[in-house]
Amino acid sequence: MASVETSPSRPYHLVVFGASGFTGQFVVEEVARTVSEGPGGSLKWAIAGRSRQKLDTVLEQAATVLSKPELRTEVDVIIADVGEPDSLAAMCKQAVIVLNCVGPYRFFGEPVVKACVENGAHHIDISGEPQFLEGMQLNYNSQAAEKGVYVVGSCGFDSIPADMGVLYTREQFKGTLTAVESFLTVGSGPEGGCIHDGTWQSAIYGFSDSQKLRSLRRKFNHAPLATVGSKLRRRGAMFFSNEIQQYAVPFMGSDPSVVKRTQRFLVEEHEESPVQYGAYAGIGGLGNIIKLMFAGMMFWFFVKFSFGRNLLIKYPEFFSFGLFSKAGPTRKQMEGSSFQISFHGEGYAEEQDPAQGRPNAKIRTLVQGPECGYVATPIAMVQAALTMLTESASLPKKGGVYTPGAVFSKTTLINRLNKHGIQFSVV
Ligand SMILES: NC(=O)c1ccc[n+]([C@@H]2O[C@H](COP(=O)([O-])OP(=O)(O)OC[C@H]3O[C@@H](n4cnc5c(N)ncnc54)[C@H](OP(=O)(O)O)[C@@H]3O)[C@@H](O)[C@H]2O)c1
Repeated sequence: MASVETSPSRPYHLVVFGASGFTGQFVVEEVARTVSEGPGGSLKWAIAGRSRQKLDTVLEQAATVLSKPELRTEVDVIIADVGEPDSLAAMCKQAVIVLNCVGPYRFFGEPVVKACVENGAHHIDISGEPQFLEGMQLNYNSQAAEKGVYVVGSCGFDSIPADMGVLYTREQFKGTLTAVESFLTVGSGPEGGCIHDGTWQSAIYGFSDSQKLRSLRRKFNHAPLATVGSKLRRRGAMFFSNEIQQYAVPFMGSDPSVVKRTQRFLVEEHEESPVQYGAYAGIGGLGNIIKLMFAGMMFWFFVKFSFGRNLLIKYPEFFSFGLFSKAGPTRKQMEGSSFQISFHGEGYAEEQDPAQGRPNAKIRTLVQGPECGYVATPIAMVQAALTMLTESASLPKKGGVYTPGAVFSKTTLINRLNKHGIQFSVV
């Protein structure tokens, strides 16, 4: 198994690749903040990317924002470009874990996964792109297992809160949990909020290529997961949710795909009972429905053609009614924003046989935290990395391509997240 220890030839516990990106800069700050706490204080880390100038600026900014002038001299800089395999190999040889923030992953992700697997570095990313995530599982799982390397995708807001939230709900349920629906709501302060254009681009290319995801899934040749209890009914394309007292739509991110892969892993590797899952997002009142329908129609139309995609990419703010922007949210906007995911589960109480009758017990849990994209995501990514570094005995025995829930189900990741502002609770 690839070591979780550094050595003279592999000097860094963590290398943040794509540190100059909008998200990367906040991952750098989160690593800097976290390694100075407790046992993390002895971690050695570096930042990586293709532009030395930009990387120096990121370190300078982190040193100023966090009042840590030592960052300027203590954190090394590695130059690596996705288009230059030798530079990726050289980076991966020096890292125990690569925190990969270079997206869209469908364009830039695979060479980094390949270099990590070939050079014995574990890989953690924040992709929310099912096609990339499932494609890496199809193409690299066996090789990663042989090399003892863990490749763990979707360790950001997509999809740690949802994936670990379903596991948490199952743990707290007294009996056999059979189905969970989650409802996401996001809040913003007086300054409002938005999402950086990097995620907008990932979404555009993901939707335009959704046909490929279906054919990729067929290659796994999976038998459907068994249904325990009543079959979870899929809600409509838009409905009023009594759970969150507002209108809601199916959640379009990677959560359903990731949770399903985790459930399959737990059924196949640990013979656990599968939990069905449906993910929804609150959209507010009638005014927002009209905006969303209009934006959705434009998006579906334009995303099909290359000229349309170019327009969407060029004018994110216009086409998303301000939800996405090239500048990304300001720090003030981030401070005022938060998320909440409410999980509504049902199943069989301890005394009831799951093979008999209908589910007879319910549970409600919450995962809540700060702004999703650039506060919660770095926290989740860095805590995932620290869990991997310090709890190797609780990870699956074999390396491979895993979801967060599959790789961290036996670790203390949830406790760590609780201590760092992403809170799990039973209502
Ligand atoms: N899971 C979540 O909830 C979540 C949250 C936030 C972001 N994300 C994902 O994270 C990804 C990044 O988003 P972002 O908004 O940070 O995007 P971004 O600002 O555009 O950052 C992209 C990064 O990739 C680097 N890059 C591009 N091409 C490269 C190459 N050939 N070689 C090396 N580096 C290269 C860029 O380097 P330069 O600076 O040199 O151009 C930059 O550092 C997206 O896929 C996004 O969806 C996910």
